[in-house]
Amino acid sequence: MRRFGVTVTGTGSYTPERVLTNHDLEKMVDTSDEWIRARTGILERRIAAPEQTSSDLACRAAEKALTMAETKADDLDLIIVATLSPDRPFPNTACFVQRKLQADQAACFSLEAACSGFIYAFQVAGGLIRDGVCRKALVVGAEKISMHVDWTDRNTCVLFGDGAGAVILEATEPENDIALAAEMGSDGTLTDLLTVRGGGSENPPGPEILKQRSHYLTMEGREVFKLAVNAMVNSASSTLNKANISSEQLKWLVPHQANIRIVQAVGKRLGIANGNVYMNLHKYGNTSAATIPICLDEMNRGEQLQSGDYVLMVSFGAGLTWGSVLLQWP
Ligand code: ACO
Repeated sequence: MRRFGVTVTGTGSYTPERVLTNHDLEKMVDTSDEWIRARTGILERRIAAPEQTSSDLACRAAEKALTMAETKADDLDLIIVATLSPDRPFPNTACFVQRKLQADQAACFSLEAACSGFIYAFQVAGGLIRDGVCRKALVVGAEKISMHVDWTDRNTCVLFGDGAGAVILEATEPENDIALAAEMGSDGTLTDLLTVRGGGSENPPGPEILKQRSHYLTMEGREVFKLAVNAMVNSASSTLNKANISSEQLKWLVPHQANIRIVQAVGKRLGIANGNVYMNLHKYGNTSAATIPICLDEMNRGEQLQSGDYVLMVSFGAGLTWGSVLLQWP
């Protein structure tokens, strides 16, 4: 039996001020607003200022979430930042967030599961709270993914944007736990489909890396597309089955915001009407681990989430990684 349940008491999000439109991209690479809209659904994305770090974005989102939760930063006993664009290789980005927020009582670590990072971090924080190790956690998805983007590669540069989303998770009675079921998975045989090859221990930083431009992300877009749809549909179905909830009972599907065609295909295969599939990718593009918490915050502040609603979050990302969590909104 669970010792504690987990609930959400606050959400927050932040996207940088600078807007990069499809028309701006037309001046940078051989592309068109029409192509990007039709193939991805993205109209614009936000790009962090050069001096802004992922932890800066995380803190802006976290401050809003803390305010909503009426919680002081030094009440937090856990901070997890999901990111593939850390401030530094080490120490972990959550420690930078801790310092900036003055969250002196928190244990801090980062988690890297690419676009699935927030779902993974949500699950890890939930487990620590249920076990009684922690009582009040800040979970953030924060990405300055523009640092990994090759702005001369039209295949990838049109897809991504920077941003952060945060939730405050707190211990509650076991019967009030908002997470009804979850599923996670990975396929490490497919690491090369979407990756940054240079800059890690395999190919340490140096002049060769810069010359080969291997510090930028590369992607087999068509392959990733097919795998994304299958992985998200399978994960979502498995989580719904575990909770014995049908897709018709869902108020919202909140999918990772990679591409409108992926999102619509997932909704269709799960039998969920378009109106119940949340989307904001036209404004922000793919912000990796930040997409789902940014959606949650927009929905929460827009009063699109009512108490008792079934909300299914589902993600997919490099690794490959995937995961889903079914919530009953508090
Ligand atoms: N503008 C104009 N033409 C382009 C552009 C562009 N920006 N990008 C590619 N093209 C061209 C290609 O060169 C190709 O031309 P060719 O036929 O002469 O070779 C043509 O358009 C069609 O290319 P496809 O790759 O077949 O286009 P597709 O319809 O598959 O769309 C896309 C490409 C948008 C990348 C799609 O495959 C996709 O969304 N894939 C999934 C991406 C994704 O979700 N990634 C993130 C995963 S999450 C994470 O962990 C980060």
